[in-house]
Amino acid sequence: MTAFLSIQEVVKDFGASAGGAAFRAVDRVSLEIAQGEIFALLGSSGCGKSTLLRMLAGFETPTSGSIRLNGQDLLKLPPHERPLNMMFQSYALFPHLSVWENIAFGLKRERLPKAQIAARVEAMLKLVQLSPFAQRKPHQLSGGQQQRVALARSLARQPSLLLLDEPLGALDKKLREETQIELVHILKSVGVTCVMVTHDQEEAMTMASRIAVMSEGRIVQVGEPRDLYENPATRFVADFIGNVNVLDGNVAVRPEKIRLSRHLPQEQTLGAINQVQGRVRDIAYFGSYTVYHLQLANGQTLKVSQSNTERHPDDALRQDDQAWAWWSPSAQVVLTQ
Ligand SMILES: Nc1ncnc2c1ncn2[C@@H]1O[C@H](COP(=O)(O)OP(=O)(O)O)[C@@H](O)[C@H]1O
Ligand SMILES: [Mg+2]
Repeated sequence: MTAFLSIQEVVKDFGASAGGAAFRAVDRVSLEIAQGEIFALLGSSGCGKSTLLRMLAGFETPTSGSIRLNGQDLLKLPPHERPLNMMFQSYALFPHLSVWENIAFGLKRERLPKAQIAARVEAMLKLVQLSPFAQRKPHQLSGGQQQRVALARSLARQPSLLLLDEPLGALDKKLREETQIELVHILKSVGVTCVMVTHDQEEAMTMASRIAVMSEGRIVQVGEPRDLYENPATRFVADFIGNVNVLDGNVAVRPEKIRLSRHLPQEQTLGAINQVQGRVRDIAYFGSYTVYHLQLANGQTLKVSQSNTERHPDDALRQDDQAWAWWSPSAQVVLTQ
């Protein structure tokens, strides 16, 4: 992979100048991101995601390290000269300006010819499907529409790099899920390289070509969504990305890879390693699937997820039933730490 954006050993310490001990918000982060990628920084609140993004944008200066975009040293450029744009969670739309004027704002400041500004704004409106709303003010739009205006405004200046900080954080769950796919379509259609920050693992999995999982300022694992889910290197990643059962301290099995039934099927030889008996302690019905909590003899609880392919299965398990859980050896992952 040829790196378009190259982040090398970037550190950010806060508070060092105040005389007190410095707090390290970003700790020796190195990443290589290719042109056209949608790359997600994923981690819980306070792990340093926004600080890293703000250093790319130029709103914070790294304590040490280097950041290069397309071969150019970004740290030598003030924020407004960097060929990138950042979209904030709050969108920061101008309330007194129309949708059209909001999108045109950055282009006017760049002093582009009028005809070119108009053409660019029209194209952006079309891209985010807001042409009929061009003359509305932000408060006359739904949350999802405001989000699309903010996106159109960020893309209007045709940045080489788009930075999105919790881009869908202001939307409710259902709208967020719909918007994720739509946003990816838009980003791919313009081909912009994108670094997005999110604390929502589903959002990162749905949208990103690759994900860097962060914890306490560090990158713990980088990979494609499937890679992180199927081959988590550490217990932290296994836990953070989806649900997992950790057995014997370092063997992990995802709940949907376990089968569950009242009787062990014939082909499953009794005494094989990957089977265990327990008592159904809890059942949570989610429509398309059900999650069972199986209490094992050793006290551990095994989470098992089963897809609901039948409407009224004859032999459905109930609370307090004895049941067998089993899985194939290839369903297991051995965690290194
Ligand atoms: N300007 C600042 N001064 C001091 N500490 C800061 C500053 N900005 C962020 N931090 C601290 O750095 C850590 C990482 O913050 P942030 O990057 O915003 O996390 P995230 O975006 O992952 O939630 C937090 O502990 C936060 O309190
Ligand atoms: Mg943040």
